[in-house]
Amino acid sequence: MQRFEQQTALISGGLGAMGIGIARRLMAEGARVVLGDLPQGAPERLAAAFPDAAGRPAFVSLDVTQASQWEAAVAETIRLHGRIDVLVNNAGVVSTQSVPFDQIDLAEWQRLFAINVDGTFLGVQAGLRAMKAQSGGGAIVNLGSIAGYVGSKEGGAYGSSKSAVRNLTKQAAVSAARMGYNVRVNAVHPGYVWTPLIEQKLIQQFGGKEAAMEAVRGMNPMHHIVGVDDVAAAVAFLASADARMITGADLVIDGGRLIQ
Ligand SMILES: NC(=O)c1ccc[n+]([C@@H]2O[C@H](COP(=O)([O-])OP(=O)(O)OC[C@H]3O[C@@H](n4cnc5c(N)ncnc54)[C@H](O)[C@@H]3O)[C@@H](O)[C@H]2O)c1
Repeated sequence: MQRFEQQTALISGGLGAMGIGIARRLMAEGARVVLGDLPQGAPERLAAAFPDAAGRPAFVSLDVTQASQWEAAVAETIRLHGRIDVLVNNAGVVSTQSVPFDQIDLAEWQRLFAINVDGTFLGVQAGLRAMKAQSGGGAIVNLGSIAGYVGSKEGGAYGSSKSAVRNLTKQAAVSAARMGYNVRVNAVHPGYVWTPLIEQKLIQQFGGKEAAMEAVRGMNPMHHIVGVDDVAAAVAFLASADARMITGADLVIDGGRLIQ
């Protein structure tokens, strides 16, 4: 299935585990992909993820907290490929602290909100501005998390930030549709996916890799760990014309964990 033939996608946090998986999926379906991420170590990370230089996506330096860098990244995507059909707001961080809510540092709270919320807000804005101006419109997909649906003992800043991503998605979706922009905005909300983002924390929490993986499996009724490919498939669906009547939606990818 080549749902993204002749289409271009920009993925923020594109050198991370999920970003690479989403890029591979969109490329397999015909997309030209541009990865945006922080510049430190980017050439090495890009080459490691895509050893074949011929099939390597383009890279743009992008700090998602900076509006001017979003403008430049979108402009570079359009300069390279003529248009931007898909924008995935994937860059995100978890807290370095696991502490009860009353002990969250304001600075740490603000760091998470700057990257997870401001970064997504600015990405959505940059996407909307470019996509509304081109024929055919476009689709934006934001990375939330099931952490944005529920409370937790020690994940208050991250959960709160992902909850904000969930509602800003709906605000942008309705506003864009009512304005006649022909741009859809949706969100995916994964449960734990085994990536560097969470790996160390879970190994520490459960005292070893296998114990941690078994604990994560046990958290959901399907007893499998959500894979990067599962998230990539959901992103691809929401970005594709198959979802042409879907906007403002939350697609939860968690093996049934939330609903039990
Ligand atoms: N891994 C999980 O279990 C999980 C679950 C739910 C949601 N998510 C979300 O999925 C997304 C991707 O996570 P991942 O697991 O691939 O993590 P990751 O750490 O592998 O990748 C995150 C990427 O974001 C980049 N990044 C960080 N700050 C940035 C900034 N200011 N500007 C641009 N890029 C920046 C990092 O360099 C990295 O490449 C995040 O939004 C995360 O919150 C992850």
